[in-house]
Amino acid sequence: MSRTIIVSNRLPTKVIRTENTLTFQPSEGGLATGLGSIYRQDSNVWVGWPGLFVEDEAEEKHVQEELLNDSMVPVFLTEAEIRDFYEGFSNSTLWPTFHYFTQYATYEQEHWDAYVAVNEKFCRAVLEQAGPDDTIWVHDYQLLLLPELLRRARPDCTIGFFLHIPFPSQELIRVLPWRMELLQGLLGADLIGFHTYGYMRHFLSAVSQLLGLNSQNGQLETPTRTVLVDAFPMGIDYERYAKAAASEAALTHEGEYREALRNTRVILSIDRLDYTKGIAQRLRAFEVLLQRYPEWRDKVSLIMVVVPSRDQVAQYASLKEEIDELVGRINAQFSTISWTPIHYFYRSFPLEELAALYRLAEVALVTPMRDGMNLVAKEFVASKADQRGVLILSERAGAARELSDAIIINPTDVGQLAESMHDALVMPEEEQIARMAAMQALVKQYDVFSWTKLFMDRLSYAKIKQLTLATE
Ligand code: G6P
Repeated sequence: MSRTIIVSNRLPTKVIRTENTLTFQPSEGGLATGLGSIYRQDSNVWVGWPGLFVEDEAEEKHVQEELLNDSMVPVFLTEAEIRDFYEGFSNSTLWPTFHYFTQYATYEQEHWDAYVAVNEKFCRAVLEQAGPDDTIWVHDYQLLLLPELLRRARPDCTIGFFLHIPFPSQELIRVLPWRMELLQGLLGADLIGFHTYGYMRHFLSAVSQLLGLNSQNGQLETPTRTVLVDAFPMGIDYERYAKAAASEAALTHEGEYREALRNTRVILSIDRLDYTKGIAQRLRAFEVLLQRYPEWRDKVSLIMVVVPSRDQVAQYASLKEEIDELVGRINAQFSTISWTPIHYFYRSFPLEELAALYRLAEVALVTPMRDGMNLVAKEFVASKADQRGVLILSERAGAARELSDAIIINPTDVGQLAESMHDALVMPEEEQIARMAAMQALVKQYDVFSWTKLFMDRLSYAKIKQLTLATE
């Protein structure tokens, strides 16, 4: 029987070292739930990095055994690989470039060499699992070379690739010294998926401009094969969020928070710490709101959750300082004995507490500078059982293509952002309900399970098409 192998840089479980013991925890992000139903089925597996440096063989064996019990195969990275592949090429070259932050991008030959070597390492790990007719689904920017490496070794495998971040205009791809290799790497797949048609168009234009390959209706002809390219906007596990928001635990937490906040109205922001998320601009906009509309002082607070991420990368460390400084300045300026303008948390929250925050918030601010999709926007929508609440959403998040009933803003326009917060706070209930109901219907229908099924069905179709063309 043929197997499905999921490959991503990060496994859905991360291993954490606390003093002398290792603990196993779910990784952040929606992918694990979405693909959980696939990788745990039959003899399927998920291949990826467990997120820590493993010190010796005994520890390696222990991690391997624990993960294998839950259908996961770890790929261990050395300290040099974590530095040059993960922090280096993946997060200091590709991440900033693909999010239009080229001013933050570095171009180091050593980082590229490590990127190639680690993609080869992943290839070897997958080949140990994959039979000749298996289906392999590769995820995200850390593994752009993997589809072609796998194709060379297993010409008959079915290979899918999905990019979770934006694919930028070909002008940005051109900046990369290794642009040809990166594009060629992707073309080993039978199906390449993006969150939006915009990203897909950017990719096709890069391939046409740089490799001279043309496409029609998402069908790309390479000298050897046909590759399908399509948009698959990722969803969330809607029921999981709806249920968490309706749970006893969430209600209890919500009650505690309301009491502590003395019923102050709440604007909520939740992100991983990242310069792409527009966190500093959001803080400035909240400051402008309090300056322009003094009537909101003492009445509205911003609850801002920032989840620690990639703190070894310089830009992330300095962003953390900038945020600390801004929060301190704004709070120092506006706080009263009984009111704190910004409640700032630098950590992650368990699901029930997140659900309580979603329930509590009248307004959610999802205002990234660039974001492949942004699932927080969808989680907020799924948590609003009474359909009251307003989503303010950046036009540069993939989610804006679907959630057009949010208040859509330009995240660099701090003035507009401040006005949109005011508009959200005074929006009549009927309008809130109408907008939220429309967004809920969409987020509920196109959930992560339908996303997975659509991609997998399309991948089988791509393979059949490939076989028919080969025999014609
Ligand atoms: C984004 C990327 C994922 C990544 C996640 C967390 O969502 O698209 O590939 O896993 O961020 O980042 P980290 O560097 O901690 O894996």
